[in-house]
Amino acid sequence: MVSFVTGAYILSALLFILALAGLSKHETARRGNAFGMAGMGLALVATLLLVLRQLTDDLVVDRTPIVVGLVIIAVAGSVGAVIGIRLARGVEMTGMPELIAMMHSFVGLAAVLVGYNTYIEVASLHELGVGSDAVHNAEVFLGVFIGAVTFTGSVVANRKLAGRMSSAPMMLPGRHLLNLAILVVSAVLMVWFMLADGWVGMVPLAIMTVLALVLGFHLVAAIGGGDMPVVVSMLNSYSGWAAAAAGFMLGNDLLIITGALVGSSGAILSYIMCRAMNRSFVSVIAGGFGSDGGPAEDRDYGEHREIQADEVAALLADASSVVITPGYGMAVAQAQYPVAELTRKLRDKGVDVRFGIHPVAGRLPGHMNVLLAEAKVPYDIVLEMDEVNDDFPDTDVVLVIGANDTVNPAAMEEPGSPIAGMPVLEVWKARDVIVFKRSMATGYAGVQNPLFFKDNTQMLFGDAKDKVNEIVAALG
Ligand code: TAP
Repeated sequence: MVSFVTGAYILSALLFILALAGLSKHETARRGNAFGMAGMGLALVATLLLVLRQLTDDLVVDRTPIVVGLVIIAVAGSVGAVIGIRLARGVEMTGMPELIAMMHSFVGLAAVLVGYNTYIEVASLHELGVGSDAVHNAEVFLGVFIGAVTFTGSVVANRKLAGRMSSAPMMLPGRHLLNLAILVVSAVLMVWFMLADGWVGMVPLAIMTVLALVLGFHLVAAIGGGDMPVVVSMLNSYSGWAAAAAGFMLGNDLLIITGALVGSSGAILSYIMCRAMNRSFVSVIAGGFGSDGGPAEDRDYGEHREIQADEVAALLADASSVVITPGYGMAVAQAQYPVAELTRKLRDKGVDVRFGIHPVAGRLPGHMNVLLAEAKVPYDIVLEMDEVNDDFPDTDVVLVIGANDTVNPAAMEEPGSPIAGMPVLEVWKARDVIVFKRSMATGYAGVQNPLFFKDNTQMLFGDAKDKVNEIVAALG
């Protein structure tokens, strides 16, 4: 049985690696998901078999705790599955990041609970005269620390993404010193914990847990709206390390491998996103380091101009090159289907239509790519920001559909802006820019957008789906 379980764990680990490889491209993402689900299913069955095996073990005198454990697993697993299925079915695509942040918080909490459980076992054995192992204690301490930081950090990320907490960075005076002090005190507590025997170890463990919970809260609360995507992927990475730590504590190889895969892929994604956003990796980990967090200068940008759907249709019919830059508003309006229809119509008329996708457009990595793929927009006309940015001066019309921060020239022109330095789609260099949105409200980062007031920009107010449908109808 043990060799079967070991084999199943190796196969699961391979399936997880294939899942990651598959998820790195649109074309293979579905297959990647299927590999991941198969790997997780196999891992669950193998782990259950491992517990069931103990029932048939002649050396086990009292089987009651094993049966109770199996009943608890069955009940908790069923309740968890029902809640998970209901949440996942009900969640809108735009609500996905906050759901993911909540799941990360569960991983963090699980690592904390596993750590305490493991230590209670160690302390109980100590009463029976069994000495504690300093290396094992270090694993427990680190697992609880990473888990606690991940837990409160993810709860804050969830509340910020859901709009239940201000997306503005919380800037406490001396915040970096506070973070540093927590790290130093935790390191001292770790030495105490490693040397402590029995129940005494609970004291440094409990103090560190409170400090780590505060650190997680503070690190994420200090990060402003525009940088949240990096934080979510960073917490993804932390949750992986928390799971790996739990794997060490439980002596479960698959949990160590899976945690390390999530931890390292999350760290790579965070690094890629930091580069795309022109943010320093260390600054984001340190919680908003280097950002002054102040609001953008309150300037008078002048008047904006409005346009109607039939006029946009006429403009498009005369254009030879069109670039569409979608954003979060396209997802809210579910406008991807009429956008795909508009694209087909224009291409049939011989217009060169392409899409420019900002790396953090929408609310999760690849959000726009998923929506456009769902509406069957051909992959080869969906370009990354860097592939399309040089082409705007030669573009006749840009349709900014529900995007705001990702096309904001303030990022390049206003050094004091909270989004300063973030690369953006330079749509204002095109001949005509049409912005689809419902009002003059700001985007996610809460920053005014000077694009709306430029001479070559016209605003098409209303729900993006309705307006694109009107344009499609007017094109005939
Ligand atoms: P945003 O800056 O969020 O702006 C979206 C715009 O869509 C808003 O200005 C809104 O204006 C408009 N809108 C909303 N509903 C609409 C509807 N039904 N019809 C038409 N317009 C609608 O979008 P973006 O340019 O995609 O930028 C993304 C932002 O989210 C960035 O700041 C990014 O850092 C952040 N973020 C991204 C991620 C990832 S990983 N992608 C994760 C978390 C946060 P009205 O209200 O006036 O309509």
